[in-house]
Amino acid sequence: KILILDFGSQVTQLIARRVREAHVYCEIHPNDVSEETIRAFAPKGIILSGSHASTYEDHQLRAPQIVWDLGVPVLGICYGMQTMAAQLGGRVEWSDHREFGYAEVRARGHTKLLDGIEDFRTVEGHGMLKVWMSHGDKVTELPPGFKLMASTPSCPIAGMANEDKGFYAVQFHPEVTHTLQGTALLTRFVREIAGCRGDWIMGNYIEEAVARIREQVGDEEVILGLSGGVDSSVAAALIHRAIGDQLTCVFVDHGLLRLNEGAMVMEMFAGRLHAKVVHVQAQDQFMGHLKGVTDPEQKRKIIGREFVEVFQAEAAKLKGQDTASGTNKGAKWLAQGTIYPDVVESGGTKTKKATIKSHHNVGGLPETLGLKLLEPLRELFKDEVRELGVALGLPHDMVYRHPFPGPGLGVRILGEVKAEYATLLQRADHIFIEELRKTVDEHTSKTWYDLTSQAFAVFLPVKSVGVMGDGRTYDYVVALRAVQTSDFMTADWAELPYSLLKRVSSRIINEVRGINRVTYDVSSKPPATIEWE
Ligand code: XMP
Repeated sequence: KILILDFGSQVTQLIARRVREAHVYCEIHPNDVSEETIRAFAPKGIILSGSHASTYEDHQLRAPQIVWDLGVPVLGICYGMQTMAAQLGGRVEWSDHREFGYAEVRARGHTKLLDGIEDFRTVEGHGMLKVWMSHGDKVTELPPGFKLMASTPSCPIAGMANEDKGFYAVQFHPEVTHTLQGTALLTRFVREIAGCRGDWIMGNYIEEAVARIREQVGDEEVILGLSGGVDSSVAAALIHRAIGDQLTCVFVDHGLLRLNEGAMVMEMFAGRLHAKVVHVQAQDQFMGHLKGVTDPEQKRKIIGREFVEVFQAEAAKLKGQDTASGTNKGAKWLAQGTIYPDVVESGGTKTKKATIKSHHNVGGLPETLGLKLLEPLRELFKDEVRELGVALGLPHDMVYRHPFPGPGLGVRILGEVKAEYATLLQRADHIFIEELRKTVDEHTSKTWYDLTSQAFAVFLPVKSVGVMGDGRTYDYVVALRAVQTSDFMTADWAELPYSLLKRVSSRIINEVRGINRVTYDVSSKPPATIEWE
């Protein structure tokens, strides 16, 4: 396994992503992690990340001495290269001037790291590699024992190596996709140089994870809040595989879910997996509290608060539950579908980062439940969670769904939420999604559902005039929203085929009595957001 020390770059997670893609297990830890932790982790190789390092103080971030003494290969990336140079006796010139964007790097001499890489090999070590650079500071003098590995016109030392020790460093970012051979470079480092086998795959992971959960939980009871989303579903399936009936899932239906969602979740988990699921029908309670409330943030707060309340009440019942034998004193564990990006974002690695994402999750349960936390997906990325879900037998469609916000249709019905609106919206949304799933794009052979990152209908509580048959109608409007994005922080509206939009529109207007007009949202984020509220 590989240890990644994080110096606070925005893209450190991508390094981990690429290493896992090479089927090698890795973890990210903060750059100042203790020597004992590093020894206990026993990495076969260490990668030092880049950094946002913008102030003088940040330039003091260093790797612990043990990194150089452990006798394992080390790869420094960007800031990681600079700190390697600075710590091992080279020279770094700190500067305010940033070089940012594409660069062409020329290989110098032969190194085990670059020789195997396609672009370099073609012209006997003189090939060019298209890379992504983002740095101000640079190494100006190699540390003793190092040789030059690569350079660009503006950055003469763009790569260096001490092959006896297995120390390599590059100024550019191999982890971003703009660096065309970046994955190949990282794969070479972890497999050829650090000697990791590359056998980290999901099938094996299930066995390991099941064993770990059994050991952790013993014969105690676990409760889990099931939302129907990917993370909680996969966590439920995995824990159920490990401990069967010791797991109870609580599924809170707030009446603002997608059409048939409740039935689908119950049929999947109770029906097919034979898991214990408590289906809490809390529609009336939620609708009651939302009555007359129009402000989006207020609605979010109410839905979040009620969710916690309902869940807590169920948990209290399960916590106090005694089995017939009287030996079991009820649930001791709360399971959650926390995944790796959640851990890193909420400060699992503590190096400071510029905050670019504001959290607006509901369902964050307070720690006061007094239960121990079981989070079996903590080490996995989203796509690994999906792979795991499929390996556990969950349907592909469920595991590869678009994200759905915690407050659900509550933020897709503009203004006051009413049960009547929710019913109309569910049906319109269902038609839209059904057509997206059915329509295949001929260029890519993918469905438009797979070609979009998130798609849904929004209910507009305004009425407009229409004509149907001989009569005049005066009904509500829905807007269709479909976006393409890789990170949900920026997004483009999807250029859906007109024929598809036409079919969706006519189906909604014909099949959903109460809606007589359909519009398509052509706003990108920013300045619009993905949701309408
Ligand atoms: P926006 O609308 O901010 O959405 O562009 C970005 C992503 O976040 C989701 N979203 C939410 N998810 N609770 C959630 O769990 C919320 O309150 C919430 N608001 C937005 C949105 O669906 C999109 O994927």
